[in-house]
Amino acid sequence: MKAIVCHNYGPPDSLRLEEIPRPSPAANEVLVKVVATAINDWDWSLVRGRPLAYRLFYGLTKPKKSIFGVELAGIIEETGPESVKFSKGDTVYGDISLSGFGSWAEYVCVPENALEPIPEGMSFLEASALPHAALLAWQGLVDIGKIQKGQKILINGAGGGVGSIGIQIAKTSDAQVTGVDSLQKFPMMEKLGYDKLLDYRKVDFTKKGEKYDLILDTKTTRSPFAYLRALKPEGKYVTVGGDPIRFLQIIFLNPLLSLISTKKLKILALKPNEGLEHIGKLFKEGSIKPIIDGPYSLEEIPKLLEYFGEARHQGKIIVNV
Ligand SMILES: NC(=O)c1ccc[n+]([C@@H]2O[C@H](COP(=O)([O-])OP(=O)(O)OC[C@H]3O[C@@H](n4cnc5c(N)ncnc54)[C@H](OP(=O)(O)O)[C@@H]3O)[C@@H](O)[C@H]2O)c1
Repeated sequence: MKAIVCHNYGPPDSLRLEEIPRPSPAANEVLVKVVATAINDWDWSLVRGRPLAYRLFYGLTKPKKSIFGVELAGIIEETGPESVKFSKGDTVYGDISLSGFGSWAEYVCVPENALEPIPEGMSFLEASALPHAALLAWQGLVDIGKIQKGQKILINGAGGGVGSIGIQIAKTSDAQVTGVDSLQKFPMMEKLGYDKLLDYRKVDFTKKGEKYDLILDTKTTRSPFAYLRALKPEGKYVTVGGDPIRFLQIIFLNPLLSLISTKKLKILALKPNEGLEHIGKLFKEGSIKPIIDGPYSLEEIPKLLEYFGEARHQGKIIVNV
């Protein structure tokens, strides 16, 4: 089978398209023929081995796993001897970040519990764009943010994979949503339904005097005090990603904050695939639709990673394997 292989940490052009043996499923695994996969922030970090802290978990000098890829949509090709959830030919999707990655390949073996059936009416391309980013948005806005009808919400990094689904989820609660991102994404963000747009290169939303019930941040760059300033009393700030130093500041500040303020600062640790059924339901109702940049081919992944790193993409970069 063909796969994009990473032998050493380095720039995206060090990735190779190689012919490698097709894997066989272990007891509770299934072999999936990958139809579509995506590029995610995680891949961008793993390929380069940056931030360096990642290497403590994924290999100090070179990656322990040589094939990346977090999301997939595909068809069950073979089931392991003890797997019972799927049969050959079933169509499935999921986030395999806790199961060793590996969707940048024609086939991948995955524990059956890391996959769900693709809902009726959802294409493979759409299915590969949803599990990771949509659940970061869902868990941030709903599970942790406890979004309420009509709230005033701000999404920072609003035109990326998480933000482009986050706005659609927020709109199902009739929220009034401000999106912060770069100017060239504004036309797409307007179509998605953002009520107000701010260019992060020109405006610091924490200094505008506006206060929000809920802030979902994919790019935490500022001090926790700046985010507190932009929250209403009882407001919540939920970050899904950003500068690790800022995360540490939030962790150290939180015990004190809980004593002196009703505002909350939260860090989301993604629970892969938890809540995927809600995403499937919203999709079926027509409330959410992923923004797809592509589809591209497997061979193009090194180039696509550069494109992702330069943040020229809009929504999710999808690869038709
Ligand atoms: N919590 C977890 O368990 C977990 C798991 C996996 C991933 N993550 C994190 O989740 C996030 C994924 O976000 P995503 O997929 O939406 O990323 P994305 O597609 O790269 O989108 C990020 C958006 O933010 C914009 N941006 C860049 N710098 C900004 C700034 N200073 N202020 C406001 N916007 C800015 C980018 O625009 P430009 O074009 O201007 O750069 C881009 O449109 C990442 O931070 C990742 O590390 C978290």
